[in-house]
Amino acid sequence: MPNPFETVRGIVEKYRGDRFLLIKALFEIQDEVGYLSDPMLAMVADGFKISKTEVQGVATFYPHFLLKARPRYLIRCCSSVVCEICGSAKLREAIQKTLRLKNDEISQDGLFQLSAVACLGACDRAPALKINETLFGPLTGEMIPALLQKVASSGLQASSGLL
Ligand code: FES
Repeated sequence: MPNPFETVRGIVEKYRGDRFLLIKALFEIQDEVGYLSDPMLAMVADGFKISKTEVQGVATFYPHFLLKARPRYLIRCCSSVVCEICGSAKLREAIQKTLRLKNDEISQDGLFQLSAVACLGACDRAPALKINETLFGPLTGEMIPALLQKVASSGLQASSGLL
């Protein structure tokens, strides 16, 4: 993957600081890099010779723009009562251990983020979780490393038939 800051530099240079093209440049950066971080907005401001506040104003006005990195796979692990009784805490522990995650941070490889959520509407499959929109369950902590490995290596579609 190319260095995101080089990508930003290239796009800013391409538009030669034409401020009428600022939004176009921001769209292109997001398409290439995936999001607009604070240092990236500062680079854009420098390149377009406008204040960072102005660039931030544009980036925060349009809901399309993401100001934080997003993982490829968001794991939503149910923490409502049925899943808790059936062992969802063990799933979260196994996920955090396998991915070496603390709380809601994104994994080092940028692939996964864990979030504890309320009932997924799949209590009959407790303990359950969703990876993006694909439901998995019932699961055990022992199943987690293989599931995450399969998703990371082959994608979600190939993994959805596992359970
Ligand atoms: S309590 Fe977990 S899916 Fe409903």
